[in-house]
Amino acid sequence: MFKFLFLFYFLTFYFIYLCRKQIKMPIVAPSILAADFGNLARDVEMINHSEAEWFHLDVMDGVFVPNISYGMPVIKAIDELTDKVLDVHLMIVQPERYIKDFRDAGANVLTVHYEACTHLHRTLQAIRDEGMKAGVALNPHTPVHLLEEIIKDIDLLLIMSVNPGFGGQKFIQHTYEKLTKASELIDRKNADTLIEVDGGVSPGNASQLTQLGADVLVAGNAVFAAQNPFEVISELKNS
Ligand code: DX5
Ligand code: ZN
Repeated sequence: MFKFLFLFYFLTFYFIYLCRKQIKMPIVAPSILAADFGNLARDVEMINHSEAEWFHLDVMDGVFVPNISYGMPVIKAIDELTDKVLDVHLMIVQPERYIKDFRDAGANVLTVHYEACTHLHRTLQAIRDEGMKAGVALNPHTPVHLLEEIIKDIDLLLIMSVNPGFGGQKFIQHTYEKLTKASELIDRKNADTLIEVDGGVSPGNASQLTQLGADVLVAGNAVFAAQNPFEVISELKNS
């Protein structure tokens, strides 16, 4: 009798262990756009001590988007302060002109906008040739099906859940539908592409996003404007 009980408990715990292993936790990527630039090293150090795996770095040129943020020198400075992955989101026209410069600055993942690239396939190859992961971002109005022929060449599909250009905007609800379509496309093509959601992400919508297939959650204001950023990052991580 005792033997059976032991076996029963052992198998139950083993089953729970296997189920937990199956649960996929999202990668959390705090967006430095919302950090305190006067205390950048302090904020980078804070993220270094958190559960977040990536830094999300938004580069804006004032042409592709109506705002200008920062460029290579800031990315290089952050690279010197961390060992975490630098996920660089280029909101610039003709991004192919700067691929090597961003690699030299320390980018590990380089994402270009679908809307900013005439020769997307060539640009993605050039990014991979420089040893980086290649990402493609879609504006809210750009349909997922436009990636049908190129999804296998994309390491990271960034779905904009706000219009690019500014932090702290309201999450666009249609993103959920787009996320479902993106997961379906990736599965159908058997692609090895991670899905990232960027804009208005918070602990309030994170679990729905991960359930629908988001692998990477970008969060700017939700993290840096929080009383306790560590708690927010942990909530996002466990969503
Ligand atoms: C918007 C940027 C986002 C932004 C996110 O153009 O691509 O990465 O920093 O900021 P929150 O999370 O505050 O919406
Ligand atoms: Zn971004």
